[in-house]
Amino acid sequence: MLPIQEIVEKENLTKEDIVTLLTVKTKEEQDVLLQKANAVKEQFVGKKVYLRGLIELSNICGKNCFYCGIRAENNNTKRYNIPDEEVVEVIRFAKSNQFSSVVIQSGELCNFAFTKRITRLLEKIQNISEEQFRVTLSLGEQSEETYREWYNAGAQRYLLRIESSDRELYRTLHPNNKLHDYEARLKCLQVLKRIGYQAGTGVMIGLPFQTFENLADDLLFMKNLDIDMVGMGPYIEHEDTPLYQYRESLLPIKDRFDLSLRMIAILRILMKDINIASTTALQSIDPEGREKGLLAGANVLMPNLTPLKYRDNYMLYENKPGVFQDEEESVVYIKKVVNSAGEEIAQDYGDSLHFKKKRQF
Ligand code: 5AD
Ligand code: SF4
Repeated sequence: MLPIQEIVEKENLTKEDIVTLLTVKTKEEQDVLLQKANAVKEQFVGKKVYLRGLIELSNICGKNCFYCGIRAENNNTKRYNIPDEEVVEVIRFAKSNQFSSVVIQSGELCNFAFTKRITRLLEKIQNISEEQFRVTLSLGEQSEETYREWYNAGAQRYLLRIESSDRELYRTLHPNNKLHDYEARLKCLQVLKRIGYQAGTGVMIGLPFQTFENLADDLLFMKNLDIDMVGMGPYIEHEDTPLYQYRESLLPIKDRFDLSLRMIAILRILMKDINIASTTALQSIDPEGREKGLLAGANVLMPNLTPLKYRDNYMLYENKPGVFQDEEESVVYIKKVVNSAGEEIAQDYGDSLHFKKKRQF
């Protein structure tokens, strides 16, 4: 028996075990890991894929993360903000295409006008959806009061990636100021959980200066935080960002892809009943990236429903896919992705089973 086979069957994985799994050298070993993760997924969450329609509401951002193409100081990006009427149209489209949920994502803004705008938008969504709908927000760090206001206005889920759980690496990836403070971000995740949101986080994989130990710690961080959902994917360099200067030091892109699949697989083994997204960044490296993510243990896909005219301005990283695919094509394509992974689209909301079980206690 391969040592990998023994490790994946263990009841509790240590950090050392996780590093071993992250650094397997052969395809055969990687397949043992991915197949185990897929079996765990089938047993605990089934062969169903949940669709969340992604709306990239605005690329206006007040922050300057060193990796991100829409950072405030990048003047090569044309800024946009989708008006509420168009967002409501997208929601109608999502509903009529059997999506039971959307994710509203945007650059990070913390001001009164933005907070109120989101509250009003959530109320409009409630009005058209007769409560048969779930809204996930991914709007960055906000005050507890704001998070509560949005929760009360109808948002049930919130995604806030920790980006890297290692304090030192986090500091390397962000400007050193109050706006980019690790402790503040961590506190937001705790507040979100306390309010009652289904809380999601995630990290980038294959960042400059990131070690395999960092990635193992990221997975243990998610487990310790007892998170309900995760979206994580490969780091992809962007020309107009400070981190671009370190591109020579990165793992080859194909290795970052495989490493991302292994991260998904190990997370599924560690946290059997959470929701894990197969992210767009995977697809930007491999056209079949999202199918491969599903087969490695992911159970959520987030087809992009942002109206096409805004799409090429939400360039977090280079070669972001789907820029030419409109909403209709996105839906057709995503159904193909699900079929080719041998799975089917789930019809329910897809609340995290992990979250539901916690609620029962
Ligand atoms: N490569 C991959 N993911 C990125 N993100 C931002 N920049 C990049 C990049 N260069 C991710 C971050 C952020 C999400 C909106 O996009 O994880 O949370
Ligand atoms: Fe803004 Fe998010 Fe990009 Fe950071 S990662 S610059 S907060 S959009």
